[in-house]
Amino acid sequence: MLEISFAKPQLPRSGALVLLIGEEESAAGIWQAAEEATGGAIGRALKVAEFTGKLGQNATMLAPGAGLSRLIAVGLGKRSEQTRLNLEEAGASAAALLAREETATMAADALAAELAAASAHGATLRSYRFDRYRTKEKPEEKPRLNKLMVLHPEPAKAKSAHDPMLAVAEGVFLTRDLVSEPANVLNPAEMAERCKPLERLGIEIDVLGPKELRKLGFGAMLGVAQGSGNEPRMVVMQWHGAGGGRRKKKPVAFIGKGVTFDTGGISIKPAAGMEDMKWDMAGAGTVVGLMSALARRKAATDAVGLIGLVENMPSGAAQRPGDVVKTASGQTVEVINTDAEGRLVLADVLWYCQQEFDPQCMIDLATLTGAIIVGLGHEQAGLFSNDDALAERLGKAGRDTGELVWRMPLAEAYDKRLRSDIADMKNVSDRPGSAITAAQFLQRFVNGKPWAHLDIAGTAWLSKDAPLAPKGASAFGVRLLDRLVTDHFEE
Ligand code: BES
Ligand code: MN
Ligand code: ZN
Repeated sequence: MLEISFAKPQLPRSGALVLLIGEEESAAGIWQAAEEATGGAIGRALKVAEFTGKLGQNATMLAPGAGLSRLIAVGLGKRSEQTRLNLEEAGASAAALLAREETATMAADALAAELAAASAHGATLRSYRFDRYRTKEKPEEKPRLNKLMVLHPEPAKAKSAHDPMLAVAEGVFLTRDLVSEPANVLNPAEMAERCKPLERLGIEIDVLGPKELRKLGFGAMLGVAQGSGNEPRMVVMQWHGAGGGRRKKKPVAFIGKGVTFDTGGISIKPAAGMEDMKWDMAGAGTVVGLMSALARRKAATDAVGLIGLVENMPSGAAQRPGDVVKTASGQTVEVINTDAEGRLVLADVLWYCQQEFDPQCMIDLATLTGAIIVGLGHEQAGLFSNDDALAERLGKAGRDTGELVWRMPLAEAYDKRLRSDIADMKNVSDRPGSAITAAQFLQRFVNGKPWAHLDIAGTAWLSKDAPLAPKGASAFGVRLLDRLVTDHFEE
């Protein structure tokens, strides 16, 4: 991870310098000092580049003088635009332009401490890379940036604003690592293993295997798992941070779909693009990263994270279309399509969660449907909720973090479409509105508890670079839900 440090403003005499420049500001502080040291070269170059400090603008100068290798100006826009999110994105775009430098200095001397910290946080988020399996990359091909010093008049204050952000970045990186892993490496047992180190952060971890799940009556989840040689797992993570860990409050609960690979099962998927289904555990990966973030920043809240881990494979032992399974709730399901497996996993985990923990609310994350991508594209996740206040809060946290969610409907008329001739319900309806019928299916297992479902099928994986993440696993939801907890579930 990019190493961040904070120091009092002093013009560096080597390496790269980043100037964060607002549209309404004129040269002062480090900017002014750099201008003088380079004999006015910066001002002239910015003029030629037509750089005015508009939000999203940037300009790069090579060897501007004064010993600097590179100078990068990043626009911050008007004062009113200088929000935490925009500063994160400014820092991130600087990091993307700094890939060829080993160390850099970022002048955030004119900003509030929290915004200086945010710019560093954005740089960290953008500099993620999953290169575990690249054995032949030449050093000159690798991004080199490993140290970033941020200049601020109150470095200690900026650092303490940055500490919780660093905890969140660690969580985001953990999620991205998990989601990026191929399914031959990351099967359910391996993913459960990778939750264990969270114990060192003070999280209580329980791992349940097939025997325990059978005892709990997880017939729907086990039905999905039965076609795979890799055994299922459920991991329960508990963080007790309320009242300094002493007071037990009703927890907020996070539930994740963890299908480590989704072939579709007997209702098998087409070959083209099936490799994407290694990230069908992104909901679970997000819950793990979120729990780690909450623990690392010692959030003053009680939270539980539950993930249902299975592999959906076709085999002689696989479940068939038409099979009827019994869920932990006692309700029976006719499995019309074995590719609608995520909801079967979540049905049991959601039921168990509300029975075991009586949470104040439950939020599940799942790469649940292709239909949500048709509806919302890759720019926002689908939000379904039986609780208007919770939905509002999620919407706000989304706008503040850039992890946007768009509310979709739930209604009796959709629910009716799940009626089965043989069981209490079937697991799919026909195509129209099928992200909604999927959510309706889940709602049958929340037992009236305040609940929100995030369909992250379109947002969990990036096919091109985004402001705060390189292409690949986005960890969508970690920052969103961390913010939700900060805003509403801490003491
Ligand atoms: N994991 C998929 C959904 C998905 C599709 C996620 C594309 C990410 C990208 C899910 O298990 C699935 O197969 N859903 C089916 C449901 C259908 C059979 C009702 C779908 O969306 O096609
Ligand atoms: Mn599927
Ligand atoms: Zn799936």
